[in-house]
Amino acid sequence: MFEKVATAPPDAIFGLNDLMARDRREGKINLGAGVYKDEQGKTPVMQVVQEAESRLLEKQASKSYLPIEGLASYDRLVAELILGTQHSRWQRGEGVVVQTPGGTGALRVAADLVAGHAEPRSKVWISTPTWPNHPKVFASAGLEIRNYRYFDAARNGLGFDAMMEDLEQGSAGDLVVLHGCCHNPTGVDLSAEQQVVMVDFLAQRRLVPMVDFAYQGFAFGVEEDAAWLRLMTERLPEVLVASSSSKNFGLYNERVGALTVLAESPKASAAVLSQIKQVVRANYSNPPNHGAAVVAMVLSDSDLRQRWLAELAQMRQRIQDMRRRLTAGLDARGVRLHADGNGFINQQNGMFSYSGLTRSQVHALRQRFAVYAMDSGRINVAGITSSNVEPLCDAVAAVVQD
Ligand code: LMR
Repeated sequence: MFEKVATAPPDAIFGLNDLMARDRREGKINLGAGVYKDEQGKTPVMQVVQEAESRLLEKQASKSYLPIEGLASYDRLVAELILGTQHSRWQRGEGVVVQTPGGTGALRVAADLVAGHAEPRSKVWISTPTWPNHPKVFASAGLEIRNYRYFDAARNGLGFDAMMEDLEQGSAGDLVVLHGCCHNPTGVDLSAEQQVVMVDFLAQRRLVPMVDFAYQGFAFGVEEDAAWLRLMTERLPEVLVASSSSKNFGLYNERVGALTVLAESPKASAAVLSQIKQVVRANYSNPPNHGAAVVAMVLSDSDLRQRWLAELAQMRQRIQDMRRRLTAGLDARGVRLHADGNGFINQQNGMFSYSGLTRSQVHALRQRFAVYAMDSGRINVAGITSSNVEPLCDAVAAVVQD
């Protein structure tokens, strides 16, 4: 059966972790996978998560199955976290939510739902560049992928006109994958004005947003980061949201996320939920409990919730601080990653910076200095610490000035 199977290439992101694990050099710097690290370079269990876990261990009475749609309290609390507590359409029953194995699981369930039931048949529009797994997830469900331009390298920012021009080619009912905040890999988001223009455009063209919302809380704050998504859910009849508790709760390996879908009527949304349950049952039956129970406990307890917001704010501020340290370190060495200087690093949102480093510079960083960044030039700013920022700037200076 497997004699003729060809070897697939390693994953663009996790393959880098494997490569780094085999590197025996001291002082390796991991700027690859989008995982938060603290000042010690560790990915900590958040304190509120630890507390919730110990409370859960004490009171947990059963390991029986969750329903297909997951833990009811998690589903409700996450819907409120992303949509807000006063969402009129949610209250009218026009929205449904299911817990999924991470944000990736939510994207795949959404992809299967759309592939199986969307009428007319949807194409999926994906930004250039995007998270390398986006095209794979949607193509695996049998959907046709189209790309829209997003990042303008010359301007080192968003190419909004080009983005709109490409999306003009979309047909009613096509799915447009948008990053709710902290665009991965560029860190470049739409301005508040551009967000409004985009929502009007989607409404007029009857395009359906598929919002990938994996980094809520990493740009400006939990509420602020949800503003665009909430505008979409107020103004557009149909919206899909893949959200994740991996990053903002640090629950990466617990695989906890959610798919939220808003449809035009309570009847349509109930039918959508019934079809989502078919998709889930055929894929993984029902989701795991632990991560969802932790999130539900933190979000429902006002003390834990406040402490969670404070911890998340610290993480966000540390990343912003590292952006400033990186910029200052490069400036001090006379290194300019863009013709206009390095200031763009401080304008980008979230964990990632599209650094402008070329593929060959990224490879030189890896080979000569054991600095691991993505081939695209994406660096995870959360991988920078006070102790590695200077060696990192030295390494970047060496490869850029070569
Ligand atoms: C990333 O982009 O590095 C993260 O979202 C991790 C992943 O699953 O790829």
